[in-house]
Amino acid sequence: MDEVRQNTLRIKDGVKADSLDWFEELYASANGDEYWIPWSNGEPHHFLTEWVSKIKSRGRALVVGCGLGEDAAYLSRKGWNVTAFDISPSAVQWAKKIYSSENINWQVADLLSLPEEWIGLFDLVVEVHILQAIPESIRIHAAPKMAPLLAPSGQLVCIGRLNEKEEEYEGPPWPLSRNFIDSIGVDIKNVDFIKKQLPNDDPDVIRYRSVWERET
Ligand SMILES: C[S@@+](CC[C@H](N)C(=O)[O-])C[C@H]1O[C@@H](n2cnc3c(N)ncnc32)[C@H](O)[C@@H]1O
Repeated sequence: MDEVRQNTLRIKDGVKADSLDWFEELYASANGDEYWIPWSNGEPHHFLTEWVSKIKSRGRALVVGCGLGEDAAYLSRKGWNVTAFDISPSAVQWAKKIYSSENINWQVADLLSLPEEWIGLFDLVVEVHILQAIPESIRIHAAPKMAPLLAPSGQLVCIGRLNEKEEEYEGPPWPLSRNFIDSIGVDIKNVDFIKKQLPNDDPDVIRYRSVWERET
């Protein structure tokens, strides 16, 4: 196991089970060195850019669990009016510093208890690698929080790893079953589902993108 994974697991195992506090500890202890953030490579996710490049209109976008802000910055540069939030204050402060020239509304917030005024507000809601990074006991409460944030005709884009064979994983991450993914947007219309591997992935890593649209 490489030292970045070892460090991540050491910090995660140091907090009580089913706590999300380790995210803040990881970002804070990295001291501004991206090397220690295993999911961050300075680029927006390919599945996101591929989907968003097909959307002609612009509007309000919300990036859930924005981490160091790559997806938020991408959307902002494409002309979206972006709000990006993360549970970790250090991550939000760090992202804000990296992308100080972007006009992004950065917020510290918890997906489990979002501001009421965000309900029905966003034309695009983006979740990249959040649900798979949190334990199932929290994930089942977090997943249904996203669809209600959509404005009429708004889209919810979720990206992560797929657990095709419904295997047990020593997460994080915990790849998601197709049934679970489908449950994220159960009351809205699914308009896209893809699964594929990216060029540098291990052979057992399968990724998905699922997109839903709220009808008017
Ligand atoms: C695996 S990282 C992915 C970060 C980013 N989306 C990316 O793709 O680089 C998961 C992120 O979700 C954040 N997070 C976890 N639980 C959260 C919650 N309940 N509300 C908001 N953010 C959360 C973490 O702090 C972390 O930044």
